[in-house]
Amino acid sequence: MINHVSFCANIIKLKSSGFIPKVGLILGSGLGSFAQQVEVTSKISFEDLSGFPKAGVGGHAGQLILGYIEGTKVAILQGRAHYYEHGKADAMSVAIRTLKEIGCESLVLTNAAGAINKNVNPGDLMLITDHINMTGVSPLFGEIGNDRFVDMCDAYNAKLSDKMRSAADENNINITEGVYAWWCGPQFETPAEINALGILGADAVGMSTVPEVIVARYARIPLCALSILTNYAAGIGDVTLSHEQTLLIAKQAEQSVTLILSSYLKSFSNED
Ligand code: HPA
Repeated sequence: MINHVSFCANIIKLKSSGFIPKVGLILGSGLGSFAQQVEVTSKISFEDLSGFPKAGVGGHAGQLILGYIEGTKVAILQGRAHYYEHGKADAMSVAIRTLKEIGCESLVLTNAAGAINKNVNPGDLMLITDHINMTGVSPLFGEIGNDRFVDMCDAYNAKLSDKMRSAADENNINITEGVYAWWCGPQFETPAEINALGILGADAVGMSTVPEVIVARYARIPLCALSILTNYAAGIGDVTLSHEQTLLIAKQAEQSVTLILSSYLKSFSNED
């Protein structure tokens, strides 16, 4: 793992002439074209980065983009791997730890999720305040040493989340907040499962992000995370759930997400 990370970091440094990003972003389903906002300085295919995810689910390009958005140096992972692809919870570990290694001081994670809380609507955006890991697995399985016993309180950084709220306010975009439950997938949940998740305190459900948060916590990179609520979760609405529906609604929310993320990133441009 460590070897992969330093190998990838070296390749990136060589291919980007030593570009040091400040903020790392992981773009979820349907959000890949946010990367068009970048004044690109280099693009590196995941194929060239050993341990990075291979081309995945529809909507994911599988490349690392380095450059500037609103004056802030960013590293964008366009595409992610999911636990359900190969049953590996650590599928994003090398990628995330490499972002840290090349200089990222914080991360923004985005995803598509189903709404469990009936006070929100498909198309709404939700800032994640905490999560429930329903899979029973961890990307830290196999790690050794006391550092693997990671404290998961405040995993979603309050200061960064405040910045994200301000970015939404600046653009007059409503953003709700809540607890995200990680469901292993790839099948969607049953109505009974969604009912149970609601009772447990989840506001939304999705198939990504949580293992990335755990790895980032282990690697000591603060982060905030944004869900696009693409549908009511199973048994709540009357739309048949499908990945096509997820991509369609995520695409519709893309403009709002782009505005929010652009303002968010701008707020880092005058920080040193
Ligand atoms: N469940 C799980 N993952 C999802 C959903 C859902 O309803 N919508 C988008 N991603």
